[in-house]
Amino acid sequence: MRRVLVAGNWKMHGSKTMVRSLLEGLLAGSSADGNADLAVFPSFPYLSLAQSILADSHIQWGGQTLNPNPQGAHTGETSGSMLNDMGCHYVLVGHSERRAIYGESNADVALRFSAALDAGLKPVLCVGETREERESEQTEAVVAGQLDAVISSFGIDSFKHATIAYEPVWAIGTGLTATPQQAQHVHAFIRDKLSSLNGIMGSQIQILYGGSVNGSNAAELFAQSDIDGGLVGGASLTAEDFLAIYTAAG
Ligand code: PGA
Repeated sequence: MRRVLVAGNWKMHGSKTMVRSLLEGLLAGSSADGNADLAVFPSFPYLSLAQSILADSHIQWGGQTLNPNPQGAHTGETSGSMLNDMGCHYVLVGHSERRAIYGESNADVALRFSAALDAGLKPVLCVGETREERESEQTEAVVAGQLDAVISSFGIDSFKHATIAYEPVWAIGTGLTATPQQAQHVHAFIRDKLSSLNGIMGSQIQILYGGSVNGSNAAELFAQSDIDGGLVGGASLTAEDFLAIYTAAG
């Protein structure tokens, strides 16, 4: 049985005051025996604060990216072992903003995915097509290419300790959500692709949907058979909005 995960990608937002009140609100409004797991992805400077507030709680936390190298002369970068040291359970890998704004190729993303596993973190591999790619019917080819970059270098078994987030780029931060049917179609495609290589892996892998998820659309998205929760940006920045999504998860 796959667990449902509701994960909040805070992107480059927040302050100490905001982190404290948001996390206290989430702790007060959720519980360890809920049907869904909760995780937050603060910016690096706030990981220590998140760790101190969330330690021993039911809420996990993670980094928004990591450098593929284990250590070294990489000014400004953060390694997987540092994230592990800050108690991170997860790390986002290949978010479309990293791909589009910071030029991360499929090959770069695959190296980060592997570095995350090496550091004992659970990578959340983000995949998804742009509007142009969808309109030219390239969605499956694009998503397959993003998955193949990891599979060809590190093998299907590398997904054993990973989560996937399908995030159509045209739905991120735009208020345009994929319909439950559009999202389910791509989720099933991803699951079938992994299943064709390893049946158990395909049936067990957790696949989140991301792209303008909110309290009103979450229940219908999460009701789809291959959608195992959400990666939430804008609506994860207030406890009220994020908890509405958590509640929708069951
Ligand atoms: P959004 O962001 O919910 O604001 O669309 C999702 C994401 O980028 O992970």
